Amino acid sequence: MTIVPLGEHIGAEVRDVDAGSPHAEETFAELRRALYRHSVLVFHDQDISDEQQVAFTRGFGRLQMTIASDPYGGGGPINRIANVDEEGRLIPPRDKRSLYQAGNNLWHSDGSFKSVPLKASMLSAKVVPPRGGETEYASLRAAYATLPESRKVQLEGLVAEHSMAYSRSQIAPGLMTEAFLKATPPVRHMLVRTVPETGEKALYVGSYASHVIGWDIEKGRALLEELLEWSTQPQFVYRHRWKANDLVMWDNRTCLHRGRPWDNGVYKRIMHRTTLAGDGPTVP
Ligand code: SIN
Repeated sequence: MTIVPLGEHIGAEVRDVDAGSPHAEETFAELRRALYRHSVLVFHDQDISDEQQVAFTRGFGRLQMTIASDPYGGGGPINRIANVDEEGRLIPPRDKRSLYQAGNNLWHSDGSFKSVPLKASMLSAKVVPPRGGETEYASLRAAYATLPESRKVQLEGLVAEHSMAYSRSQIAPGLMTEAFLKATPPVRHMLVRTVPETGEKALYVGSYASHVIGWDIEKGRALLEELLEWSTQPQFVYRHRWKANDLVMWDNRTCLHRGRPWDNGVYKRIMHRTTLAGDGPTVP
């Protein structure tokens, strides 16, 4: 395989790997190292079935099933991120389902609303719009590494509360079903986390992070907003312009991501996501 970096801080293209075929453990070990090193891996021309995507994801670690009450996962391994219904009809942009999915357009790390957040995600592009609908990725490692030393000292040991409800409240009220709200109570995460495989530190912020534990709500929120702005500066960001059959994998511990808007009342965008389970809570 060949690994071609796509930027200074984040992203690499992987060539000569067929995600639809079985691979030896050494291949997955090399891919894992590349993931930890670059945070985002791009594989082009991967026309794979859901079963093949699940098998490829499993090669990287423990597959995470979706939450049963998640309207787009239903407890299975695939989260369907799409602006079409089960019959393939476009969902109107102001429909509750479209607004709920618009939460993916806020900078976030998948699963940070869970006490054991998701380690990594893999997105397979089935149908893409002709314009827009890109996904942007921001390096949380570069963001941490470039903070002033005094800021790093201040952040040490701080814990933030994350919740699905807080993320979706930024889009519109009442987007979550009672069952999904119940299944996703607020959780706590370190504001700075260390990646065990590399020993590197990364900020842990994003749209699920609501406030800092033990701080005045507004003061904590202002800090989280400032850190989010810092983390998503252009020099830390890779923008992926999708082609159908692209497969992109990212390390949720070291990058944020967000979907970009497109003309979703006219063009379909259908993506299938699988995820890897995390190793444990971020708080001791
Ligand atoms: C996601 O948030 O996992 C998906 C992002 C996208 O649809 O671009």
